[in-house]
Order: sequence, then C-alpha cells, then structure tokens
Amino acid sequence: MVLLCSLGATAQRQQFTIETQHVSLVFGVGDNGRLYQNYLGPRLSHASDLEHLPGGIEAFLTHGMEDYFEPALHIQHADGNPSTELKYVSHETSTASDGASQTVFTLRDDKYPVTVRLIFKAYADQDVIVAHSEIVNGEKRAVTLHNYASCLLSLSRNQYWLTEFSGDWANEVNMSESELNFGKKVLDTKLGSRASMFMPSFFQLSLGGKSTETTGEVLVGTLAWTGNYRFTFDVDQNHRLRLISGINPYFSAYELKAGETFVTPDFIFTLSMQGRGLASRNLHRWARHYRLKNGEGNRMTLLNNWEATFFDFDEQKLVGLMDDAVRLGVDMFLLDDGWFGNKYPRSSDHQGLGDWQETASKLPHKVGYLCEQAAKKGIKFGIWIEPEMVNPKSELYEKHKDWVIHLPNRDEYYFRNQMVLDLSNPQVQDHVFGVVDRLMTDYPQIAFFKWDCNSPITNIFSPYLKDKQTHLYVDYVRGLYKVLERIRTKYPDLPMMLCSGGGGRIDYEALRYFTEFWPSDNTDPVERLYIQYGFSSVYPAKAQCAHVTTWNKQASIKFRVDVASMGKLGFDIKCSDLKDDEIKFCQQAIATYNRLKPVILDGDMYRLVSPYEGNHASTMMVSPDQSHAVVFAFDINPRYRENLLPVRLQGLDPNRQYRVTEVNRMGGWPLGCDGKTYSGEYLMTVGLNLFGTTRLTSHVIEVTTL
Ligand code: DGJ
Repeated sequence: MVLLCSLGATAQRQQFTIETQHVSLVFGVGDNGRLYQNYLGPRLSHASDLEHLPGGIEAFLTHGMEDYFEPALHIQHADGNPSTELKYVSHETSTASDGASQTVFTLRDDKYPVTVRLIFKAYADQDVIVAHSEIVNGEKRAVTLHNYASCLLSLSRNQYWLTEFSGDWANEVNMSESELNFGKKVLDTKLGSRASMFMPSFFQLSLGGKSTETTGEVLVGTLAWTGNYRFTFDVDQNHRLRLISGINPYFSAYELKAGETFVTPDFIFTLSMQGRGLASRNLHRWARHYRLKNGEGNRMTLLNNWEATFFDFDEQKLVGLMDDAVRLGVDMFLLDDGWFGNKYPRSSDHQGLGDWQETASKLPHKVGYLCEQAAKKGIKFGIWIEPEMVNPKSELYEKHKDWVIHLPNRDEYYFRNQMVLDLSNPQVQDHVFGVVDRLMTDYPQIAFFKWDCNSPITNIFSPYLKDKQTHLYVDYVRGLYKVLERIRTKYPDLPMMLCSGGGGRIDYEALRYFTEFWPSDNTDPVERLYIQYGFSSVYPAKAQCAHVTTWNKQASIKFRVDVASMGKLGFDIKCSDLKDDEIKFCQQAIATYNRLKPVILDGDMYRLVSPYEGNHASTMMVSPDQSHAVVFAFDINPRYRENLLPVRLQGLDPNRQYRVTEVNRMGGWPLGCDGKTYSGEYLMTVGLNLFGTTRLTSHVIEVTTL
C-alpha cells in the first residue's frame, strides 16, 4: 500500500489535460497535494472518462523523497537539506505569443520557498508538445541545483523499443534499435561545444511493439540545447517508463542565487499513432512554421570551395570558381576556411584560427574584392567562420590566453590543433559577435555565413568562472545564445549554416538562429542516403545541406546530384572535375531543382523505402495541397536477378489523377511510367516500378495533378 501511494495511486482531486489534435497528456492532483501525470497517448475525447484514469507517476520527481527511481529535480537548499517536495499550487492555460496553447503548472515546496513551473506548449495541428521547467529560488541564500530536467514523461506500455542515432565524424546518425527492459538506458554527451559529435540529441521511442514508417505508436523527442544533453529511459518494476530529458547534469551543479530563476531548455516531442513517418512530418511542419530561422522562406543553391581547393587558393582561383558557380547556375559562392591570418596565415588547420583578418598574400584586395566580383557576376557571396575557436599558433592566443578554456597546470590538449574560447566570459562573447559584426560592417554585401565548430571542450577550466567551474558547460551555451541573439537582432535576415566538423552540433535551439545545417563532411552519395535519412527523423529537408562533390567517383554525376537534390542543394566541386555533358546535366538539374524547390523543401516528406532495408532507397515529398509531388528512387546495391517490387507512393489524393514524368534524365531509357497518368489510389496501392538491378542508378519522378 505504501509503495502504491508513493507511486501516485492516490485519489485525484483535479484533472488537467494538455491536448493536440490527436494526443492527450493528462495530469491530476493527488490527495497528498502533489501533481501526477496520469496519461500520455491517443487523444481522449470524453472529459468524463478522465476520472477513471489510474494514478500515474509524480509529474516532476524530486530527490530525497520516497520514489525509488531517477529524479527530475535535485536541489541542495541553503541549509544543506538535499530534499524537495513539490505540491501543486496552481495551473493556468493561455495562448502563447506564437499561438500555441500554453499550460503552466506552478508547484511549491512548503518547507522551502522554492517554486517550480512546468510549462507545456501544445501545437494542435502538428501534434507537437514543447515542454520545459523553470526553477525559482525564493530562499534568502543560494541553493545548488544538481539535477534540473526540462521534462519528465511517464508511459505505461508492454514494450518500449528505442531507436538511437550514433556515429562519429563523417559517419553520423547510424540508426539502431533495442528493447528497453528493467533499468536505465542513458543517451547523453559531455563534449560541450561539438556536443553531438557521437550522437545527436534526438530519439524515436516505439510504444507497445516496434513501429514502422506507417504503423505503430511512436514518440519522437529532441532537446533544444546546444550543449551537453541527457535522456534517461528508466523502466521500473511495473514496466512503466520514465523518460527524463534535459541538460546533462554531469559536472554541472549550478548555484542559483537568491531570487534567481533557472530556465531549462525545451524538450520537443510528438506522438504518432501511425508510425515514424507521420512523427517526422509533424516535427518538420512544426519546425518550418515555428522554429527554424526563416523556416518558410527560400534557400539559396551554392558552390562552396572547400573540397574544390581546401586551403590552397588565391583570388584568381576563387574568382574562377565564381565563374563555375555562374556556369552551373547556382545562387551563391561560399568561401570556406583558409582566408585569414597574417602572422600565422591559415595555410592549414594548424594555425591562424582566431585572427580574422584576410591573409594579404592570398587576398591582397580583401573580401571586399570578392564581394564585388560576385556582384558583377550576378551571384551572392557567403563566407566561413569558426569564431568560437583558436589555434595556439595565433595572435589571438598570444594576446588572450585567458580567453581560452584550458586547465592552467596541465598540458594543453588540442583537437584538430585547436582549443575552445571561453564563451562564459562576456569579453569573449564580444569578440565572437565582433567577428560577424566586423565582416558585416566592412562588407555589407556578405549574404551568408557558414559557422563551424570543430572541437569539443576538453581539459575543462574557465579562467573567467574562477570558483564556479561547474557552471561552465551551461554558461558556455548561454554565452553562445547571447552572441547568436545579438547577431539575429542586428542582422535579422542573414542566412547562416550551422556546421560542426559535419553534423557535430545540431539542435532546435541553435536552429532558431540558423537557416540550415551541414549534416556531414561525408558527401559520398551512398553514405548521404543513410545520413540524410537519419537526420530526417527530426529535421526537415529544407534544413539539411547536401552538396555534390567528387566523393565516390563510381557514382555518376546524376546519382550524386539526385541525392543532393533531396535537401538544400549545393556543389563543392570545380567545373574542371566535370565533363561537358556532366556540366550540362548539372545546369538542367539545378533549373529543375529551382522549379521543384517549393515541393522538395516545403512539402511533406514520406520515406518510402529505407536504405537500411537493403539494396534500394526511395523518398518522396508532397505539396500540402497534394497537387504536386517529387519521388526520388535509388538502386544502391541491387542483387543479380533480384525480385524487384514496385514502390508504393504515399500522401496523394486517391481520387485525383496524376501525371508521372521522369525528370533529371541523363541518357538511358526512360522509366515505363514516364508520361503516363494514374489515379492517386493506384500510385499508393499498386505503385510504380522505379527500381532496377544496375548499381548506383537513380530516378527522379515528378507527379502532378492534371
Ligand atoms: C569542417 C567542415 O565540416 C567542413 O565543411 C569545412 O568547412 C572544414 N571544417 C573547414 O575547416
């Protein structure tokens, strides 16, 4: 009996429902005055049923009381007492400034003046809920926060299957699935700046059995925090799952002064009863509408010089590449790493980082000349920076060693020959903001930034934070947001790409400030099929930069362009690497991409055939009014005499007639379906023969209503 009470099976005095179109999340207040989460699942439409819900798990489990599992909150009070008991005080529902329905629960400890607010924003149409907590210290002295989760959700199902996305540099987001049983599974990072190098901050959790793209109940969640995160999946002895999401408390005990409030990052989740595809589409739609910078705006195609030149370039070469950009027909030229440093010119990744003045020997007429050249040629100009970092071989390091994160009495450790600047320090924040501001002031024609971040935080010690070293992981991220906010305020329309040695740092808080991200330095189109597929679980095609390069020369230019056309298309290649007919193909493919961009970048994505299933892959995008779709199909590694199945399309109107046209053709025979008309019903139930038995073949199909 005692055990049951402690787990929340007390009578419920009041019930509160947070709901979206298809999901209900129900809380109730127990006789003991605490708040419990009683339900999370398909929407319950009869309010009268709520009173029958069995008592759930306490909504924000605290350390020091009687629950046996992982707490969401652990506070050490000013008098040293480490326990907190939260009692329900009030609940308020209102419409947030972005239109979401916002519910705020206020909870308070009656022994200590500590208040906790649990805040849930429900986006009805997208079935997305965004949750965070706020902890207010009303004590007269400081308290220490040891655990401070954004959100605790509890679920009761017979099975839980967790899909995680692990990897490394150039090998991002490999999907693997395992069943959760009694005990804890933790997904986390302690890398600091390049925080998600080994795993991005999202997961898929199938409930009651495995889900597929189109079937099953699945919760997809992600933490909007550009630093150390932790997801704890804790299955108890009754097979109930407690999912705790938030900043990783590792080496992050945080002192909260009297009167201060600690605001935790957003945990964003959706629940789909029709598989993973719908869950992704929910998040994509939500992100384009509410979160991603300029989420509903246009994106520029570009030519980047990184793989074309690496550090070896001068003005003439760059202007030549601009001519290539014009010849191909892209919107912008993007100058990558290697343009700065004079005492220590950035001729390799060993030096110069931090010294953001143009290298005189390489760019005697500075960036202004490049902007002018680009303007003359009718294209935009973008530039790469990595402002949070420093090479020890740099003037910045020589002048400001006190700005660098490092342990004073230990050997320095270099990751890619560099170190991380201490963004907890306001002077460093000014410096980082100044890198962008100086460039924009000197060269207002700059139309785009690629913001890189190649090193995790190592040998962690902040010369600035002195005796508050456990604040560094959190204050670093807060410092970064201060800088990004200043940039967004001063340059609200400036598009920026978030990059971190590939996809080492991507999340939905950073993406308030960035229009797109670089998923991986691996641009082998076959690998990209897997990487783009993995990231699409949470991020829309519009945010995923995909470039055509010379990686994997076995793959035709058509295959490479078709893979990159599934995201935000770019090129990292010289025209001299291409034959005339290949250049002609690229020109046509870019024009077609520009025409199809509204569907590809703003449509609903359906993952039709997973590359993980074996030998082929297919993805399609459908316009919101179902009048226009684009289907991409790839033969990766087909078997000899394989029994090929048609690809069933999704998301169309079964009662409309659609014309099917193959686009991006480069020689060969057209597909049998080319030029034919089918009903949406036929396309979705019988499907089209899009696969073949030749390795590295691809097709792009445009589907339009008559
Ligand atoms: C890592 C990025 O992922 C690359 O695209 C490139 O910008 C290099 N850094 C430059 O150093």
